Amino acid sequence: MIVAIDGPAGAGKSTIANKLSQMLNIHHMDSGAIYRCYALAAVEANLDTQSPSDMQNIVKNSSVRADYSVTPAKFFLNNKEVGETIRENRISSQVSFVAIHKCVRDAVVENLRETSKEHNFVVEGRDIGSVVFPNAEHKFFLTASIEVRAKRRFRDLQSAGEDISFEQLCEDIERRDHIDSTRDIAPLTQASDAQLVDSSNMNIDEVVKHLNQMISPL
Ligand code: CDP
Repeated sequence: MIVAIDGPAGAGKSTIANKLSQMLNIHHMDSGAIYRCYALAAVEANLDTQSPSDMQNIVKNSSVRADYSVTPAKFFLNNKEVGETIRENRISSQVSFVAIHKCVRDAVVENLRETSKEHNFVVEGRDIGSVVFPNAEHKFFLTASIEVRAKRRFRDLQSAGEDISFEQLCEDIERRDHIDSTRDIAPLTQASDAQLVDSSNMNIDEVVKHLNQMISPL
């Protein structure tokens, strides 16, 4: 079974996908983390995330893999665990440029589809219900107002010790949303058969309960 959860940055996808997967007793696949691993590879090699040839180089010469046997899953770039490095703002600010490139998207989509053969998953991302798993049994599009999303992300970054202003973060998120929704390949979109969930006025547990009820109504 695949449960697809798509939506913009800060909508709460990771926390909700994580809790929901535990409730359903299945695994949680964070597709954004794989894009973030390629972004980390490019940033660490001082390459240009907007250059198709630089990104082709990265895809050719990097191995990205995930270990889903542990919760939360661990991600590895060239066999080294990346930990929270991929969540740093220096990576967040580059990842949407990385995710534009066809070579990167092809590698990630192949990785996700291969992995899905092994287990049942709650998969979160931007194009999961529309492109990666169009036959997913359950599809949700999770969103919230920009103010709520930015506040949530601000709290996360502050507790991770990052020094960023709220205004800068709002700008970063809006820019990322714009790049993600307007790119040519697999833009961020609500699949026609996905259920829209606006979490602006809901807490995490309310959203998880709501999704769980839609998946298992009895
Ligand atoms: O956690 P957050 O919502 O900030 O982002 P993420 O899920 O970690 O994804 C990081 C970035 O990867 C997104 O802004 C997209 O540019 C890209 N992404 C994508 O293009 N397609 C996906 N299925 C997942 C992520």
